[in-house]
Amino acid sequence: MKRLSIKQLLAAAEADQNIVVSGWVRSKRESKNFAFLSISDGSCAAVLQLVVDASSPAFALLKDIATGAAISARGLLRASPGAGQQFELQVSELTVIGETSPLDYPLQKKGHTLEFLREIAHLRPRTNTFGAVFRLRNTLAFLIHQFFQERGFVWAQTPILTASDCEGAGQMFQVSTLDMKNPPRLPNSSEIDYSKDFFGKPAHLTVSGQLEGEFLALSLGNIYTFGPTFRAENSNTARHLAEFWMMEPEIAFADLEDNMDLAEDFLRWVIAKAVERSAEDLRLLAGLYKSPDVALLEKVAATPFQRISYTEAITILAPQQKKFHYPVAWGSDLQTEHERFLCEQVVGGPLIVYNYPKDLKAFYMRLNDDEKTVAAMDVLVPGVGEIIGGSQREDRVAVLEQRMQALHIPLADLQWYVDLRRFGSVPHAGFGLGFERLVMYVSGMQNIRDVTLCPRAPGLITF
Ligand code: 4AD
Ligand code: MG
Repeated sequence: MKRLSIKQLLAAAEADQNIVVSGWVRSKRESKNFAFLSISDGSCAAVLQLVVDASSPAFALLKDIATGAAISARGLLRASPGAGQQFELQVSELTVIGETSPLDYPLQKKGHTLEFLREIAHLRPRTNTFGAVFRLRNTLAFLIHQFFQERGFVWAQTPILTASDCEGAGQMFQVSTLDMKNPPRLPNSSEIDYSKDFFGKPAHLTVSGQLEGEFLALSLGNIYTFGPTFRAENSNTARHLAEFWMMEPEIAFADLEDNMDLAEDFLRWVIAKAVERSAEDLRLLAGLYKSPDVALLEKVAATPFQRISYTEAITILAPQQKKFHYPVAWGSDLQTEHERFLCEQVVGGPLIVYNYPKDLKAFYMRLNDDEKTVAAMDVLVPGVGEIIGGSQREDRVAVLEQRMQALHIPLADLQWYVDLRRFGSVPHAGFGLGFERLVMYVSGMQNIRDVTLCPRAPGLITF
């Protein structure tokens, strides 16, 4: 008999049929006439209660079963008399698939702190919290594809290994096959001879798939990337990882306004659908942590986002300087504290800030007519701050070359990028969504390390 997942049997099964389920024991309770095992199999938030009669041969196996053991049970599914559960399984046959060591199994029935659970990343997906988080993450990834596929966007698989620094921030992990203890040197120099390295020149892990995504947007029209990106930034915060997933749409024949419209349509649609599809998991998280506020998420999905220019944002923030650690003045970057203040105190919801000073942003953003700002936009959300960053791209060869020169970006390295402006250039735009930040926002989890299977941050690569 094929095993049914707990999700399948709760969704479809009628009582009074024989089934097989398999899972991990959450708890065991014995009385004189019965034993109760509660098992979960990760397919959904619910657990299934197994009832073993003292008269059944399976009863003898119970001594080998403790919290954390993997078991399989065959039996009769029947309506449960217990409160809070629809079905229970009257066990006729029990198999211990994987015993556990009850004395040192770290997940006991009592609740554990999120900090403690980070130390056992290999086991935490078995908890209610992390089961819900990782199922939600799956839902959000699925919805990203659904949103773009239904609108005719092509999913682009851009490279992980690259020789260019998209954001120009120098926060890249180098990739090399040279002998680190004794690398080849240039003649009479201490400089490393990268012509001897695997690619014949320095190579890195990508910080963004955007530049290559533009190849496809400028030939297929509308595309999106969705994959891992890497940043060697020394940020030990609850919002930064060294390895995270980014989703980057790129749209041709489009300007900043189109880009903001797409970002807003996308976020509102994904939030609305996630609340539907992951209702049970969100309810579970809300019950445990008082967040997310699902009603608020529904309201966000139903309400147009406010949009203000960077200059307006500074006008709002500057008089509040006393509340902030970092200075606010025209030309200074918005820090998370400023972003959250704008969303949480001023707007009470998501907010799009656009037209940032050019000196704060990357080389590829389109220079506005004021020559002081670029056509950039960030989407900020309560609790998280920046969740999306994007821009209209500089599509004029001369202006792009000037910007690159001013920023000391060697033209020779990015001739292909400039070429895209020489051969049938069109206005185009795009943005990057930090996938883990989306998971944080929808799940209400406060730390990015709690929405990531194996978080990577400075000094952290245990699992
Ligand atoms: O604003 P960023 O740096 O934009 C880009 O990389 C552009 N190339 C995107 C584009 O226009 N196609 O990054 C985009 C988003 C941020 O808004 C943030 O949500 C997330 O990526 N992000 C991070 N998430 C986790 N950890 C980090 N260290 C992150 N850095 C950026
Ligand atoms: Mg950004």
